[in-house]
Amino acid sequence: MSTVHKVGVVGAGLMGTGIAEVSARAGHDVVVVESTEAVATAARGRLEHSLQRAEAKGRLDPAHGNAAKVFSRITFETDLSAMADRDVVVEAIVEDEATKVELFRRLDAIVLAPDAILASNTSSIPIMKLGVATSRPAHVIGIHFFNPVPVLGLVELVPSLLTSADTTARSRAWVEQSLHKHAIDCQDRAGFVVNALLIPFILSAIRMFESGFASAEDIDQGLVQGAAHPQGPLALADLIGLDTTRAVAESLYAEFKEPLYAAPPLLARMVDAGLLGRKSGRGFYTYS
Ligand code: NAI
Repeated sequence: MSTVHKVGVVGAGLMGTGIAEVSARAGHDVVVVESTEAVATAARGRLEHSLQRAEAKGRLDPAHGNAAKVFSRITFETDLSAMADRDVVVEAIVEDEATKVELFRRLDAIVLAPDAILASNTSSIPIMKLGVATSRPAHVIGIHFFNPVPVLGLVELVPSLLTSADTTARSRAWVEQSLHKHAIDCQDRAGFVVNALLIPFILSAIRMFESGFASAEDIDQGLVQGAAHPQGPLALADLIGLDTTRAVAESLYAEFKEPLYAAPPLLARMVDAGLLGRKSGRGFYTYS
C-alpha cells in the first residue's frame, strides 16, 4: 500500500498543475508552491477549470468527491517552507539544471521527514545531479509524468545510482496504486526512454520544416494520416513548449554528443522570440 498522503508540487506550469490535479483527484492533500502570487493565481484558475471539465465529462472518481471537493484539497503557496510536512515533493520547475540543483538543496533543508521522497519531473536532467545536491540522495528519484498529466497514463521511474530500493518501491506504489499510472523503469540517462526517442524525431521534423522541404501542416498530416500518430511532431512540440523542447535537446546533446540531439537554429530563434507554442499562443501554429 502507498505510504504517501501529503503531496507537494513545486512549479505550477503545464506539468505541475497536472500533477497537483491527479494527486488531489486521488484523495491526497496537495500543496503547490509557485514563484509569484500572480503565476499561482493563474495556475489556480487553470486547475479549477480543468477539474470542472473533468467533472462535466464524468471523469472524477466519486470515491474522492466532486470538483469542488477535489479543488479544496489543493493549497497554493509562494514560500517553499510550505513543503516541510510533505511525504513526497515533486519538482516541476523550469528545465534548467542550476535552478533545479538549487531547489533540491533548499528542499533538503526544508522537508522534515527523513524518508520523504524528493522527486523530479525533469525530462532530461540526470537525477544524480539533483540527488548529490542533497544530504539524502537515497530519497531522490525521477518521477517523470507526461503531458497532459490527467490524460496520459505513463510515468517513467528513474532511480539514480544512489536511490534506495525502498524509495523506488514507495514511488512505484504511489504512482500505480494511488494515481493509477503505468510505471516503466528507466536508467538515469538524459531523456530516459521516451524523450531519448521522441526528441530526435521532433528535431528532425523541425529541420525538415526549416529547410523548406515541406510545410508544418503537411509534415504533421504526413505523420497523422500516414503513421496513425494522434498529432504531428510540430504540433507536439507546440504542446510540450518550445523552450522545454530546446532545453531537453540541449541536455541530450550534452550527455551523448550526437548530432541528432542538436537543437536546430530555428528552434533557438523561436524560443528567443518568445514563440513557445501553445502556452504563449504561437509556435509552429497560432492558438487563440
Ligand atoms: P512550465 O514553463 O509550463 O512551468 C514551469 C513553472 O515553474 C513556471 O510556472 C515557473 O513560474 C515555475 N518556477 C520556476 N522556478 C521556480 C521556483 N524556483 N519555485 C517555484 N516555481 C518555479 O514548464 P513545464 O512544461 O510544466 O515543465 C516543468 C518540468 O516538467 C520541466 O522539468 C520539464 O522538462 C518537465 N516536463 C515537461 C513536459 C511537457 O510536455 N512540457 C512533459 C514532462 C516533463
